[in-house]
Amino acid sequence: MVKERRPSALYQRIEELQADAAWGSVLDAGTGANSLRWLASLPTERWTAVTGSEAEARIASEAVGDGMRGTDEVVVGNWADSTLLAGRQFNTVIADYLLGAIEGFAPYFQTYLFGRLRPLTGLRLYLTGLEPYVPTGRPADRGAELIWELGRFRDACVLLKGGMPYREYPAGWVGDQLRRSAFEVRDVKHFAVGYKQSFVKGQINIALHALDQLPDQALAQSLRARGEVLKEEALAWIASEGALRGCRNYVMAAEPA
Ligand SMILES: C[S@@+](CC[C@H](N)C(=O)[O-])C[C@H]1O[C@@H](n2cnc3c(N)ncnc32)[C@H](O)[C@@H]1O
Repeated sequence: MVKERRPSALYQRIEELQADAAWGSVLDAGTGANSLRWLASLPTERWTAVTGSEAEARIASEAVGDGMRGTDEVVVGNWADSTLLAGRQFNTVIADYLLGAIEGFAPYFQTYLFGRLRPLTGLRLYLTGLEPYVPTGRPADRGAELIWELGRFRDACVLLKGGMPYREYPAGWVGDQLRRSAFEVRDVKHFAVGYKQSFVKGQINIALHALDQLPDQALAQSLRARGEVLKEEALAWIASEGALRGCRNYVMAAEPA
């Protein structure tokens, strides 16, 4: 087991919901450094971590280092491929920010995701997600408006470069889809998010990275200037108000019906 563990509020919630039940075999269905580091700190029997990207597989594997046992595995594949882990079953399945990222790997597959994960789930599915904040009207509160502007700016730059931005889904939609996919929803809890400097810099960096790849560098240059203004405004807001507020994460627990 990896020793140092400081789980985020969402991972802590999953641990609370799991309580004294054994984790058994675990599938991290959309892995990354955060979820895999957390998972490797838990008393699991073994784990399988899936990602759609070779780069993410490398980053996640490096994050757990020698916390990976002989029976643990990192698998690169796509849930839209019906042969991926076909016939396998896990006691516990974790879908940590997987749904929002599906758009980049299997657009329009979101409605099939839980049906795909259902036969793989022996006892429990835990899902974390973010209430959509980009495809909404302009928020009245300035802090929330800055998050909205950052999200729209980031996604516009990613789209211009030819990429696929994340597409988040509301918890209500997720609950409906889980029930349609033969799961029973056991618990839903929302968590208010307070975004700090690292969030702002991360979002702007995604945009700048996309802009570097635009063929029209005159357009890229004026967008970079817009990004700089937005970053300074957001950082000034955080300096005076402590955080950008207005977004909510959620954790859901479901079981095979
Ligand atoms: C936002 S990241 C997940 C965050 C991660 N749990 C962490 O530690 O922060 C989304 C993950 O889901 C994976 N993913 C998205 N769509 C996928 C698909 N269709 N098939 C397989 N993996 C997918 C991505 O490759 C990535 O590993």
